[in-house]
Amino acid sequence: MLKLIWLGLKVKWQECREFVYVLWRFRSCQTFLSGYCLLAALYLFSSPYTVSRRYLKWINADDVYSYGETPLTSLAEIADRTGIHAEDHVFELGAGSGFTALWLSLVKGCRVTAIEWVPGFVYRLNWVVRVLKLSGIEVRCEDYLKASLENATVIYLFASNLDDLIVNELAERLAALPLGTRIVTVSYPLQPYIERPVFALVDQFEVCFPWGRADVYVQEVISGQNIL
Ligand SMILES: C[S@@+](CC[C@H](N)C(=O)[O-])C[C@H]1O[C@@H](n2cnc3c(N)ncnc32)[C@H](O)[C@@H]1O
Repeated sequence: MLKLIWLGLKVKWQECREFVYVLWRFRSCQTFLSGYCLLAALYLFSSPYTVSRRYLKWINADDVYSYGETPLTSLAEIADRTGIHAEDHVFELGAGSGFTALWLSLVKGCRVTAIEWVPGFVYRLNWVVRVLKLSGIEVRCEDYLKASLENATVIYLFASNLDDLIVNELAERLAALPLGTRIVTVSYPLQPYIERPVFALVDQFEVCFPWGRADVYVQEVISGQNIL
């Protein structure tokens, strides 16, 4: 119990530090700062962890504490190493609270499709998109195992707690993306989950997450059915 409280306090401290740091580091991007503060305000009385936990309880999930977020400072590192640029169309599979989608759209300037199945997340991000009239972000309340991934040039997937069978299913879907599509995954690469050689590992590096450092894998689709 004490360990859990300590972990909770540590995460809260890191979040506050990250919040201030993000405000400082991206201070030149006014629209992003407006979106960031608006979205943060919507989580003032119900944190993303609470929103996720409520949903997972409602669907009777085995583990209701499985939520986590990519710190924006780590996302900036990932985007640089992956070579994400303004011409990309990034599909975020499981967009969570939406801060990452906002950052990708408003700081990196790329088109973003944020797919998330927790209505509480989708509602909040959509509200910010509407209020600020952001045209570069589409938010979809969908299951990413079924959603259309048409036009994606980059996929971002941070889902460390997925069952192997689900990763298998996802790997099969992603194998059908057009050649050259970059897929960024946190904690595991996709190739071991599929028998034929479909994904080439382009880069692998570590970045910081609230619980410690994790491996990030950048892979590219090199063959497959390519008929999404
Ligand atoms: C670990 S969080 C990552 C959030 C965000 N991408 C980030 O990096 O900060 C994973 C998110 O995926 C969502 N998720 C899990 N399975 C999903 C599915 N099948 N379809 C849509 N969203 C899903 C969860 O609700 C959660 O918000």
